[in-house]
Amino acid sequence: MSVDEGLLREIDGYIESLFGEQDEALRAALEESRRAGLPEIQVSANQGKLLHILAAASGARRVLEIGTLGGYSTIWLARALPRDGVLISLELREHHAGVARRNIERAGLSGRVEVRVGDARERLAELAGQGGVFDLIFIDADKTGYPEYLEWSLRLSRPGTLILADNVIRGGAVLDAEDEVSRAVRRFNRVLAEDPRLSAVILPILRERVDGLAIARVRGMPQS
Ligand code: SAH
Ligand code: DHB
Ligand code: MG
Repeated sequence: MSVDEGLLREIDGYIESLFGEQDEALRAALEESRRAGLPEIQVSANQGKLLHILAAASGARRVLEIGTLGGYSTIWLARALPRDGVLISLELREHHAGVARRNIERAGLSGRVEVRVGDARERLAELAGQGGVFDLIFIDADKTGYPEYLEWSLRLSRPGTLILADNVIRGGAVLDAEDEVSRAVRRFNRVLAEDPRLSAVILPILRERVDGLAIARVRGMPQS
Protein backbone atom coordinates (compact mmCIF):
# COMPACT_ATOMS: atom_id res chain seq x y z
CA MET A 1 0.00 0.00 0.00
CA SER A 2 1.47 3.35 -0.95
CA VAL A 3 0.34 6.91 -1.45
CA ASP A 4 2.10 9.70 -3.31
CA GLU A 5 2.83 11.93 -0.34
CA GLY A 6 4.15 14.71 -2.57
CA LEU A 7 0.78 14.85 -4.31
CA LEU A 8 -1.08 14.82 -0.99
CA ARG A 9 0.91 17.85 0.17
CA GLU A 10 0.28 19.62 -3.14
CA ILE A 11 -3.46 19.03 -2.88
CA ASP A 12 -3.49 20.24 0.73
CA GLY A 13 -1.49 23.31 -0.35
CA TYR A 14 -3.93 24.00 -3.18
CA ILE A 15 -6.91 23.89 -0.81
CA GLU A 16 -5.05 26.02 1.71
CA SER A 17 -4.20 28.62 -0.94
CA LEU A 18 -7.91 28.93 -1.72
CA PHE A 19 -9.55 28.66 1.72
CA GLY A 20 -6.98 28.52 4.51
CA GLU A 21 -6.60 32.25 4.85
CA GLN A 22 -4.39 32.94 7.86
CA ASP A 23 -4.31 36.42 9.29
CA GLU A 24 -1.54 38.03 11.30
CA ALA A 25 -2.67 36.56 14.65
CA LEU A 26 -2.64 32.99 13.36
CA ARG A 27 0.73 33.45 11.65
CA ALA A 28 2.14 35.01 14.82
CA ALA A 29 0.81 32.11 16.90
CA LEU A 30 2.72 29.67 14.69
CA GLU A 31 5.85 31.79 14.71
CA GLU A 32 5.86 32.35 18.49
CA SER A 33 5.17 28.66 19.14
CA ARG A 34 8.15 27.73 16.99
CA ARG A 35 10.32 30.34 18.68
CA ALA A 36 9.35 28.94 22.09
CA GLY A 37 10.46 25.47 21.02
CA LEU A 38 7.01 23.85 20.95
CA PRO A 39 6.67 20.79 18.68
CA GLU A 40 5.07 21.68 15.32
CA ILE A 41 2.12 19.35 15.70
CA GLN A 42 -0.78 21.80 15.60
CA VAL A 43 -3.65 21.20 13.19
CA SER A 44 -3.12 22.34 9.58
CA ALA A 45 -4.66 25.59 8.34
CA ASN A 46 -7.28 23.62 6.41
CA GLN A 47 -8.17 21.64 9.49
CA GLY A 48 -8.33 24.82 11.55
CA LYS A 49 -10.77 26.21 9.03
CA LEU A 50 -12.84 23.04 9.25
CA LEU A 51 -12.91 23.24 13.07
CA HIS A 52 -14.00 26.86 12.77
CA ILE A 53 -16.83 26.01 10.37
CA LEU A 54 -18.04 23.10 12.51
CA ALA A 55 -18.08 25.29 15.62
CA ALA A 56 -19.92 28.08 13.81
CA ALA A 57 -22.38 25.74 12.07
CA SER A 58 -23.30 24.05 15.35
CA GLY A 59 -23.87 27.42 17.00
CA ALA A 60 -21.52 26.44 19.81
CA ARG A 61 -21.42 28.81 22.79
CA ARG A 62 -19.39 26.59 25.12
CA VAL A 63 -16.36 24.77 23.69
CA LEU A 64 -13.93 22.43 25.45
CA GLU A 65 -10.51 21.63 24.00
CA ILE A 66 -8.29 18.86 25.38
CA GLY A 67 -4.67 19.61 24.37
CA THR A 68 -3.86 23.32 23.83
CA LEU A 69 -0.19 23.35 22.68
CA GLY A 70 0.40 26.97 21.51
CA GLY A 71 -3.29 27.76 21.08
CA TYR A 72 -3.40 27.58 17.28
CA SER A 73 -6.50 25.35 17.06
CA THR A 74 -7.87 27.28 20.05
CA ILE A 75 -7.84 30.50 18.01
CA TRP A 76 -9.64 28.90 15.05
CA LEU A 77 -12.33 27.50 17.38
CA ALA A 78 -12.72 30.56 19.62
CA ARG A 79 -13.27 32.81 16.61
CA ALA A 80 -16.48 30.93 15.92
CA LEU A 81 -17.90 31.84 19.33
CA PRO A 82 -20.38 34.62 19.99
CA ARG A 83 -19.15 37.50 22.19
CA ASP A 84 -20.46 35.84 25.35
CA GLY A 85 -19.15 32.40 24.32
CA VAL A 86 -16.59 30.46 26.35
CA LEU A 87 -13.75 28.13 25.38
CA ILE A 88 -11.92 26.16 28.07
CA SER A 89 -8.68 24.52 26.88
CA LEU A 90 -6.81 21.91 28.94
CA GLU A 91 -3.02 21.63 28.77
CA LEU A 92 -0.56 19.49 30.74
CA ARG A 93 2.48 21.71 30.34
CA GLU A 94 2.81 25.11 31.97
CA HIS A 95 5.23 26.21 29.25
CA HIS A 96 2.78 25.37 26.44
CA ALA A 97 -0.05 27.09 28.32
CA GLY A 98 2.02 30.25 28.73
CA VAL A 99 2.80 30.43 25.01
CA ALA A 100 -0.87 29.75 24.21
CA ARG A 101 -2.13 32.50 26.54
CA ARG A 102 0.11 35.06 24.83
CA ASN A 103 -1.03 33.90 21.38
CA ILE A 104 -4.67 34.02 22.44
CA GLU A 105 -4.22 37.49 23.94
CA ARG A 106 -2.61 38.74 20.70
CA ALA A 107 -5.60 37.37 18.79
CA GLY A 108 -7.92 39.42 21.02
CA LEU A 109 -9.61 36.32 22.43
CA SER A 110 -8.58 36.41 26.10
CA GLY A 111 -12.09 37.39 27.14
CA ARG A 112 -13.54 34.18 25.72
CA VAL A 113 -10.74 31.67 26.34
CA GLU A 114 -9.42 30.11 29.52
CA VAL A 115 -6.39 27.76 29.49
CA ARG A 116 -6.33 25.38 32.47
CA VAL A 117 -3.07 23.62 33.31
CA GLY A 118 -2.69 20.04 34.53
CA ASP A 119 -3.43 16.48 33.53
CA ALA A 120 -6.63 16.64 31.49
CA ARG A 121 -8.05 13.73 33.51
CA GLU A 122 -8.01 15.85 36.67
CA ARG A 123 -9.34 18.97 34.98
CA LEU A 124 -12.11 16.92 33.31
CA ALA A 125 -13.14 15.42 36.65
CA GLU A 126 -13.40 18.94 38.08
CA LEU A 127 -15.51 20.14 35.16
CA ALA A 128 -17.82 17.14 35.51
CA GLY A 129 -18.07 17.74 39.26
CA GLN A 130 -19.22 21.28 38.54
CA GLY A 131 -21.88 19.98 36.15
CA GLY A 132 -20.21 21.53 33.11
CA VAL A 133 -21.93 20.98 29.74
CA PHE A 134 -20.34 21.79 26.36
CA ASP A 135 -21.70 22.23 22.84
CA LEU A 136 -18.46 21.14 21.14
CA ILE A 137 -15.48 19.18 22.48
CA PHE A 138 -12.18 18.85 20.58
CA ILE A 139 -9.92 16.00 21.76
CA ASP A 140 -6.25 16.45 20.73
CA ALA A 141 -4.03 15.59 23.74
CA ASP A 142 -2.02 12.38 24.39
CA LYS A 143 -3.44 9.66 22.15
CA THR A 144 -3.34 6.89 24.78
CA GLY A 145 -5.81 8.98 26.79
CA TYR A 146 -8.40 9.14 24.00
CA PRO A 147 -10.69 6.35 25.30
CA GLU A 148 -10.77 7.99 28.73
CA TYR A 149 -11.27 11.46 27.25
CA LEU A 150 -14.24 10.15 25.30
CA GLU A 151 -15.87 8.88 28.50
CA TRP A 152 -15.45 12.28 30.15
CA SER A 153 -16.64 14.03 27.01
CA LEU A 154 -19.88 12.05 27.05
CA ARG A 155 -20.44 13.10 30.67
CA LEU A 156 -19.87 16.73 29.66
CA SER A 157 -22.26 16.56 26.68
CA ARG A 158 -25.91 17.17 25.95
CA PRO A 159 -27.95 15.78 23.05
CA GLY A 160 -26.51 17.43 19.94
CA THR A 161 -23.02 18.06 21.32
CA LEU A 162 -20.27 17.58 18.72
CA ILE A 163 -17.25 15.56 19.86
CA LEU A 164 -14.26 15.93 17.52
CA ALA A 165 -10.90 14.16 17.74
CA ASP A 166 -7.66 14.72 15.83
CA ASN A 167 -5.16 12.06 14.71
CA VAL A 168 -7.49 9.08 14.52
CA ILE A 169 -5.86 7.57 11.39
CA ARG A 170 -2.15 8.28 11.98
CA GLY A 171 -0.82 7.53 8.50
CA GLY A 172 -2.83 4.30 8.48
CA ALA A 173 -1.15 2.97 11.63
CA VAL A 174 -4.56 2.55 13.30
CA LEU A 175 -5.53 -0.03 10.68
CA ASP A 176 -3.24 -2.71 12.04
CA ALA A 177 -0.24 -1.47 14.06
CA GLU A 178 0.15 -2.95 17.53
CA ASP A 179 1.94 -0.11 19.36
CA GLU A 180 0.23 1.33 22.42
CA VAL A 181 -0.92 4.53 20.71
CA SER A 182 -2.44 2.74 17.70
CA ARG A 183 -4.27 0.30 19.95
CA ALA A 184 -5.69 3.13 22.07
CA VAL A 185 -6.86 5.13 19.04
CA ARG A 186 -8.33 1.98 17.43
CA ARG A 187 -10.27 1.33 20.65
CA PHE A 188 -11.43 4.96 20.64
CA ASN A 189 -12.63 4.70 17.02
CA ARG A 190 -14.49 1.47 17.77
CA VAL A 191 -16.33 3.04 20.69
CA LEU A 192 -17.27 5.99 18.47
CA ALA A 193 -18.66 3.51 15.95
CA GLU A 194 -20.50 1.27 18.39
CA ASP A 195 -21.71 3.44 21.27
CA PRO A 196 -25.46 3.87 20.73
CA ARG A 197 -25.26 7.38 22.20
CA LEU A 198 -23.18 8.56 19.24
CA SER A 199 -23.53 9.07 15.50
CA ALA A 200 -20.02 9.37 14.08
CA VAL A 201 -17.73 9.32 11.07
CA ILE A 202 -14.04 9.85 10.35
CA LEU A 203 -12.93 12.38 7.75
CA PRO A 204 -9.51 11.63 6.23
CA ILE A 205 -7.20 14.65 6.58
CA LEU A 206 -4.16 15.31 4.39
CA ARG A 207 -1.08 16.39 6.31
CA GLU A 208 2.54 15.27 6.13
CA ARG A 209 0.85 11.89 6.10
CA VAL A 210 -2.79 10.91 5.90
CA ASP A 211 -4.51 11.42 9.20
CA GLY A 212 -8.14 11.71 10.25
CA LEU A 213 -10.60 13.85 12.15
CA ALA A 214 -13.35 12.02 14.00
CA ILE A 215 -16.70 13.81 14.04
CA ALA A 216 -19.30 12.47 16.47
CA ARG A 217 -22.69 13.87 17.40
CA VAL A 218 -24.32 12.95 20.67
CA ARG A 219 -27.72 11.59 19.71
CA GLY A 220 -30.77 13.28 21.08
CA MET A 221 -34.48 12.83 21.44
CA PRO A 222 -36.53 13.03 19.40
CA GLN A 223 -34.29 13.25 16.34
CA SER A 224 -31.35 10.91 15.95
N1 SAH B 1 -4.70 21.31 19.67
C1 SAH B 1 -3.37 21.84 19.38
C2 SAH B 1 -2.34 20.72 19.35
C3 SAH B 1 -2.28 19.92 20.62
S1 SAH B 1 -0.80 18.91 20.69
C4 SAH B 1 -3.40 22.51 18.02
O1 SAH B 1 -3.84 21.87 17.06
O2 SAH B 1 -3.00 23.67 17.90
C5 SAH B 1 -1.12 17.99 22.15
C6 SAH B 1 -1.01 18.78 23.45
O3 SAH B 1 -1.56 17.96 24.47
C7 SAH B 1 0.42 19.11 23.86
O4 SAH B 1 0.58 20.48 24.13
C8 SAH B 1 0.63 18.29 25.14
O5 SAH B 1 1.44 18.91 26.11
C9 SAH B 1 -0.80 18.15 25.64
N2 SAH B 1 -0.99 16.99 26.54
C10 SAH B 1 -0.36 15.79 26.50
N3 SAH B 1 -0.81 15.02 27.49
C11 SAH B 1 -1.73 15.72 28.17
C12 SAH B 1 -2.54 15.46 29.31
N4 SAH B 1 -2.48 14.28 29.95
N5 SAH B 1 -3.39 16.43 29.72
C13 SAH B 1 -3.47 17.60 29.08
N6 SAH B 1 -2.73 17.91 28.00
C14 SAH B 1 -1.87 16.99 27.55
C1 DHB C 1 1.33 14.47 17.59
C2 DHB C 1 0.23 14.98 18.26
C3 DHB C 1 -0.78 15.61 17.56
O1 DHB C 1 -1.88 16.10 18.18
C4 DHB C 1 -0.69 15.74 16.18
O2 DHB C 1 -1.71 16.36 15.54
C5 DHB C 1 0.41 15.25 15.51
C6 DHB C 1 1.42 14.60 16.21
C7 DHB C 1 2.40 13.79 18.35
O3 DHB C 1 2.26 13.70 19.57
O4 DHB C 1 3.37 13.39 17.74
MG1 MG D 1 -3.39 16.61 16.85
